[in-house]
Amino acid sequence: MGVYCCSVFAFVLGVLVFASTLCVDGGSTSSFVRKVEKTIDMPLDADVFITPPGYNAPQQVHITQGDHVGKAMLVTWVTMDEPGSNTVIYWPQNSKKKRKAEGMLTKYSFFNYTSGFIHHCNLTHLRHDTKYFYSVGLDHTKRTFWFTTPPEVGPDVPYTFGLIGDLGQSYDSNITLTHYEMNPTKGETVLFVGDLSYADNYPNHDNRRWDSWGRFTERSTAYQPWIWTAGNHEIDFVPEIGEDEPFKPYTHRYPVPYKSSQSTAPFWYSIKRASSYIIILASYSAYGKYTPQYKWLEKELPKVNRTETPWLIVVMHSPWYNSYNYHYMEGETMRVMYEPWFIKYKVDVVFAGHVHAYERSERISNVAYNIVNGICKPIKDQSAPVYITIGDGGNLEGLATNMTEPQPDYSAFREASFGHATFDIKNRTHAYYAWHRNQDGYSVTADTMWFFNRYWNAKDESITSA
Ligand SMILES: *[C@@H]1O[C@H](CO)[C@@H](O)[C@H](O)[C@H]1NC(C)=O
Ligand SMILES: *[C@@H]1O[C@H](CO)[C@@H](O)[C@H](O)[C@H]1NC(C)=O
Ligand SMILES: *[C@@H]1O[C@H](CO)[C@@H](O)[C@H](O)[C@H]1NC(C)=O
Ligand SMILES: *[C@@H]1O[C@H](CO)[C@@H](O)[C@H](O)[C@H]1NC(C)=O
Ligand SMILES: *[C@@H]1O[C@H](CO)[C@@H](O)[C@H](O)[C@H]1NC(C)=O
Ligand SMILES: *[C@@H]1O[C@H](CO)[C@@H](O)[C@H](O)[C@H]1NC(C)=O
Ligand SMILES: [Fe+2]
Repeated sequence: MGVYCCSVFAFVLGVLVFASTLCVDGGSTSSFVRKVEKTIDMPLDADVFITPPGYNAPQQVHITQGDHVGKAMLVTWVTMDEPGSNTVIYWPQNSKKKRKAEGMLTKYSFFNYTSGFIHHCNLTHLRHDTKYFYSVGLDHTKRTFWFTTPPEVGPDVPYTFGLIGDLGQSYDSNITLTHYEMNPTKGETVLFVGDLSYADNYPNHDNRRWDSWGRFTERSTAYQPWIWTAGNHEIDFVPEIGEDEPFKPYTHRYPVPYKSSQSTAPFWYSIKRASSYIIILASYSAYGKYTPQYKWLEKELPKVNRTETPWLIVVMHSPWYNSYNYHYMEGETMRVMYEPWFIKYKVDVVFAGHVHAYERSERISNVAYNIVNGICKPIKDQSAPVYITIGDGGNLEGLATNMTEPQPDYSAFREASFGHATFDIKNRTHAYYAWHRNQDGYSVTADTMWFFNRYWNAKDESITSA
């Protein structure tokens, strides 16, 4: 469906009133058409992949939330030449008192590649809402970074999340990351919807591309936590070359605090951060009835206390509602399993990736079908989440441009461009969402919407998008 949204211009007492959102059925496909170009990876000698100077200097530094409530931070880094030091020194700003945390070391091999020494260290008992400095490495190779801990969990705590997906390490990935960093309203934490390095697109999944990705993203991941979700490019299952342990590089490099939410595997877990409760689901682990993920989610959703954390956000890799001709209906089996719960527990928003383009849905559900009744069309549902596909980081495989026509009713807005988004929580009732193309000015938004919280303010917000 084209840009049919009824635009009504009316002169009322000399005042121009512009209403572009009167018709919400059918949605719109952006009139912005990005030039289709081949997506290529930056060469290994590109500036963004430079190794920090000095023997055994720590590299690929990244941080993620270390516990359930944001009082711990997991720090990871890699040393290439020898194990080196496992210690992180850290201190709050305005304090001379330094603390030390001891980490653990791991490494792995993949076909004929052997990783460097991967260090993981949990910084605990952090104060909320405090800037901390931390350093890793020894003597002349010591490197210092900083992060700010989230405010204490509570209902009206403002907080901004960045949304990035399917990033990869192409020239476009670099532009997307730069746009996120330069966005005047950038997030304080990134919710990453899966597909990190795309190393698996190289012969034998050349794992040097995991190292280069770690060095490339360090400029953001060392300073603000990225909350990780596993995508299909993290599976790395290649039995032909003897690699039959799925997710090996990913789990060795990107730890997550899954035990803090009683999860039994690092692919599904939850955290609280500020005023939000974030549930990460695994598109590539079993999710059918009786499986560990199913049992976990069944127990998890009733635990969410919307008085404490009004915003219930779900992140997964494979989208349930997607109207591009790529990965069409791949998320369908999981939708059939879990969608009734999302309605029952009033999930505010679901972020997914996988499809290399951008799309935002209406609030819709499709839960009435029971095989014999024929009721199988999505309907408007104010208890349903908004589904956002944001797999448009930059990847290596190119943009998804081919869309199903006509545009289905459930699709509110779609555009084949690279970009990122921010979800800016103001209080328990309002959050401002904005999507940015990676080729506009840093403050330009290409799709925006005021979210009204489904628990506290469940009004129809379909007129708040632009
Ligand atoms: C791994 O094998 C590939 C293909 O056989 C080869 O090009 C590459 O140099 C090897 N790498 C190492 C570290 O031996
Ligand atoms: C990546 O982006 C940064 C920041 O804009 C820039 O300095 C750098 O030259 C870019 N590198 C490549 C290979 O495009
Ligand atoms: C980090 O430490 C905190 C506080 O002791 C603990 O709750 C959490 O489980 C630890 N995280 C990991 C990943 O070990
Ligand atoms: C929900 O959270 C609020 C605010 O933290 C608290 O007062 C209340 O006891 C919690 N409810 C339950 C059922 O735990
Ligand atoms: C778009 O996808 C449809 C369905 O897979 C296919 O039939 C069509 O040829 C594709 N169009 C282009 C231009 O690739
Ligand atoms: C919540 O935030 C919205 C948007 O900034 C604002 O209009 C509203 O007044 C706020 N509500 C309260 C109770 O402060
Ligand atoms: Fe994917």
